[in-house]
Amino acid sequence: MFNVIPPTGVPFGWNFVFHSDQRDQNSFRDELGRLLGGDAFLTCSGKAALYLVLKTARRIYPNRNEVIIPDYTCWSVPSAVVRAGLKVRPVDIEIETLGLSPQKLETSINGKTLAVVVTHLFAMPSRIDEIEKICKRANVLLIDDAAQGFGASVDQKPLGSFGDAGILSFGRGKNITTISGGAALIRHRELSEIAAASYSNEFPFAEANSISDMIQLSAYKILSNRYAFWLPEILPFLRIGQTTYEPEFDVNPMPECRASRGVMMLNNLNEISKDRIRKAALYESQFLGADGIIIPSPPMHSIIPYLRYPILLKDANIRRYILKKGHKLGISGMYPDTVSSIRELRPHLAENSSSRGVSSRVAQTLLTLPTHYGIDNDDLRRIADFVKFALRRKA
Ligand SMILES: Cc1ncc(COP(=O)(O)O)c(C=O)c1O
Repeated sequence: MFNVIPPTGVPFGWNFVFHSDQRDQNSFRDELGRLLGGDAFLTCSGKAALYLVLKTARRIYPNRNEVIIPDYTCWSVPSAVVRAGLKVRPVDIEIETLGLSPQKLETSINGKTLAVVVTHLFAMPSRIDEIEKICKRANVLLIDDAAQGFGASVDQKPLGSFGDAGILSFGRGKNITTISGGAALIRHRELSEIAAASYSNEFPFAEANSISDMIQLSAYKILSNRYAFWLPEILPFLRIGQTTYEPEFDVNPMPECRASRGVMMLNNLNEISKDRIRKAALYESQFLGADGIIIPSPPMHSIIPYLRYPILLKDANIRRYILKKGHKLGISGMYPDTVSSIRELRPHLAENSSSRGVSSRVAQTLLTLPTHYGIDNDDLRRIADFVKFALRRKA
């Protein structure tokens, strides 16, 4: 009971927890702008950043009210679209990248399409190059949501730097964290000017919560240890591992104390990413030639600090068995279903939107394995061996 590998984790020292220098607040903004391009707007969460971009986009194109998103992705994405007063058009994903299918995207864009939001699950790049061309041809905005992909790149171009705006999240389960926080990197000139003009109205209030952050970071540091993780797991209000559709989220700027910790965290991005890349390569070698699983195949020339390592199981019964028995190994199934299946979202779906297909299949067959600093090579082999054992057991 007391040895449970957490699904995610970000390493940081006590100096990070007790960091109180607030002089760096603008540096975080500047540094993100330098890394990804565009004007950086710091927000209290990734969804708030996405909301800012979408709400502003609507001002430029008042006659367009639909946003295309992948049908299998984090439910925060449709939450932000609805919060911005827009309709969601989920489009099917493809098995190779677990991201938007460019072909299906192309046939789904219509005169009401305001923007396309591309997400990169577990940091694995979607076919963003092709999607960028499609969006340019159709003259719709492209939002490169790299909430899960900070540190990843395609052809040396970082995720979050494509299209008209990029989105980042610094939530607890991300590659680097400030407990919570987000950023919009806006490269579209008019979008950036309007966002800057409306930002202080839309995002009026940042709590000065340095002490509460210290407490939360201390709890995160202590409880993300595998011998303590059972505790947060049994506290229902922490909602560990739950995916929720909640359009009523807070819309605030990032508090200064978080922005200054963000600068500190950025120094660790490369090291943390390298460790995840190495672990993903080890998983890949472990599963080479294994029957009964499909490993997604991301675009060539990608560098991927996998947030989690995704595999697809051909047999739903084996998957169920692994999820039930492999929980203590940090194995999880991710989002419970497709975006289009969220009941509360139905009134906010664009007309005639239907996707399902591959998205549905992925929702039923996906397993994700931990890649964070808290597992070592022996753990990783144990996890892979357990999956392979489950596959053989059924065969
Ligand atoms: C693709 C994607 N976009 C947006 C978000 C929202 O980020 P946050 O949790 O910081 O609001 C998430 C969160 O996991 C995400 O995965």
